[in-house]
Amino acid sequence: MTLATRRTFNAQLLGSLMSFGLIETLCRNDLLADPAKATVQKWMVELNELCQSLKGKKLKDVDFQAKLEELYKRVDLNELIQLVDFDRLSKSIRYPDKGAASVGIDLSKVEGLSRGVSFGKQIFAMRKGRSIVPHGHDNMCTGFVVLKGDFSGKHYDRVEDNADHYLIKPTIDRTFKPGECSTISDTKDNVHWFKAESEYGFVFNIHVMGYNPENKKNSSRVYVDPEGEKTAGGLIVAKKISSAECHRKYG
Ligand SMILES: [Fe+2]
Repeated sequence: MTLATRRTFNAQLLGSLMSFGLIETLCRNDLLADPAKATVQKWMVELNELCQSLKGKKLKDVDFQAKLEELYKRVDLNELIQLVDFDRLSKSIRYPDKGAASVGIDLSKVEGLSRGVSFGKQIFAMRKGRSIVPHGHDNMCTGFVVLKGDFSGKHYDRVEDNADHYLIKPTIDRTFKPGECSTISDTKDNVHWFKAESEYGFVFNIHVMGYNPENKKNSSRVYVDPEGEKTAGGLIVAKKISSAECHRKYG
């Protein structure tokens, strides 16, 4: 095709698209304006489907963890930050003296999710030296991905549940930078503790509650003190403590 013929062909194609109203429709739905946004919206729909599979018992919790981490590693962080309207959110945050602020996220405008999502979601925000204090969960799978800032992040397996303490086993202890992630289930890495090492730190979190019918406990947090006595087998005697005590010591 010569250049002149191609120009004529393109003009004709454009003309026919316009006459069918296609261009106008595409622009109105914002599909051509921001293809990046479409990618992260699709990602969010995938995340919702994954959480539905866990709730529908089509997936074991440890497989859910692996798949959630795969998804988190795949997301374009800048697009996610745009999608959750991070700039607007971050301006309204009130940082507590201890611990982290928890900020809700609205996903109702995400295409494909207008009927709601099957997971809870929030952003944790904190200043340097403040923490998402050490705690575990019952009957819940959850995952973090760092949006901004550096963290020191620790996880532990909850090996034994006793009257006033858990026996826990250290599993992860490292620095987490933007885009890096970790997950929790009743089975694996059940206790987490993240401390902001940069001026500010922001973590994106999703959680699925009530996924495990064998665990009759509520899906609330259980606060622990991970700096207890060490056993000969490499475990830690982690006392069960209140939220207030945990925030006083580690917040
Ligand atoms: Fe948690």
